Amino acid sequence: TLSVLLSLCFFATAVSSYRDLGAPGWSCDADLMRRSKTSPTSVHSLRPADIDIIAAMGDSLTAANGAGAEGEDVLAIAIQWRGLSWPIGGDNTLDEHITLANILKKFNPDIFGYSIRTGSANVWETAHLNAGVPGAHSADMEEQAADLVRRMKEHPEIDYANHWKLVHMFIGGNDICSWCHRGDSLNSTSYAEHIRKGVQYLKDNMPKTIVVLTGMIDINMLRRIDNAHEVCKEVHTFECKCEGNATVTDAQLSGICHEYMNKMQELEDSGQFDTSDDFTLVIEPYFETMTDIGRNPDGTPNMDFFAPDCFHFAAYGHAIVAKNLWNNMLQPVGAKAAGNLTDNGEPLLCPDTSCPFIRTTKNSDKCSNFI
Ligand SMILES: *[C@@H]1O[C@H](CO)[C@@H](O)[C@H](O)[C@H]1NC(C)=O
Ligand SMILES: *[C@@H]1O[C@H](CO)[C@@H](O)[C@H](O)[C@H]1NC(C)=O
Ligand SMILES: *[C@@H]1O[C@H](CO)[C@@H](O)[C@H](O)[C@H]1NC(C)=O
Repeated sequence: TLSVLLSLCFFATAVSSYRDLGAPGWSCDADLMRRSKTSPTSVHSLRPADIDIIAAMGDSLTAANGAGAEGEDVLAIAIQWRGLSWPIGGDNTLDEHITLANILKKFNPDIFGYSIRTGSANVWETAHLNAGVPGAHSADMEEQAADLVRRMKEHPEIDYANHWKLVHMFIGGNDICSWCHRGDSLNSTSYAEHIRKGVQYLKDNMPKTIVVLTGMIDINMLRRIDNAHEVCKEVHTFECKCEGNATVTDAQLSGICHEYMNKMQELEDSGQFDTSDDFTLVIEPYFETMTDIGRNPDGTPNMDFFAPDCFHFAAYGHAIVAKNLWNNMLQPVGAKAAGNLTDNGEPLLCPDTSCPFIRTTKNSDKCSNFI
């Protein structure tokens, strides 16, 4: 399998730089961009500008492996471009590269915790509060939650008791990639239980926190790329065994991903994380609801979305995903738009004038309670 990677490197070409997507000059009405007059006491009254601290948990997608790779440089997948990561990357500005952190900087230039440049999770100077670790499974969420609590308490820039924190979580790719040969230990019940433990750890230990969970992606869609690109198929067989496993049918692969989504949804629906004013969990379902990969105008898969391994996201892919995440965050629970990974010129949304908050289960139900 290493030989596959090495043979791919044979095609390496010197391309000047990677493609990206920004939102130049983007802003909203001043009244929608301001902070609350006094720091909110309820997590359901959080304006985007009220977020002081941003953090993230996850795997190589959150670490942004390969995001800045150029051309066909498959070995660059080993590099963690945390500064480009869609939830928490803080490289450049929103004008050049869309990420949730770069959007939030427009609302609160003092927001703290976003990652910059490249490096591992344990290099504080660049990772900051991006705790995502390549290869992580759902079983690692509790440990990453503990890691974030420790980091926040250690750093004097953070007023642990008073700052409002947004923690983004996306996990499950590695669970799915080995689910087909690991049996029960990676079934949907175990997956959701691992996430529950991670979120519960945050609830028990991190005051004033909103957990934004990106729902699971249907990995079966990657097979549409395999069908179009033989090289991608070979890399996937190496990187994601169950995706590349011919005895696993499309229906089985898609089925387990949807089981993950459904089990995860129960965590939000149960209300178990809605028992105090200063903590909540909200699921952003843009990956769950999307029905296709990103396309070029001629209908072919848009490979610029992907890093050279056709699996991780390129900088441009991170930007498109970030737009989907942000727009879902401003749409009420139950009415969040389906994800669309095609670069279709859809604008970034502004907060709703009648409910200018990050949408939660409670403010989606009756926003007037939280104005
Ligand atoms: C492929 O999938 C089958 C059926 O789930 C499983 O028994 C086998 O171990 C898998 N092979 C690999 C290499 O993952
Ligand atoms: C999932 O796996 C656990 C053990 O890890 C087992 O107890 C449970 O019955 C399994 N559930 C399903 C639905 O297969
Ligand atoms: C995504 O958006 C484009 C442009 O608006 C549209 O043509 C396409 O059908 C959408 N894709 C999906 C899967 O909805």
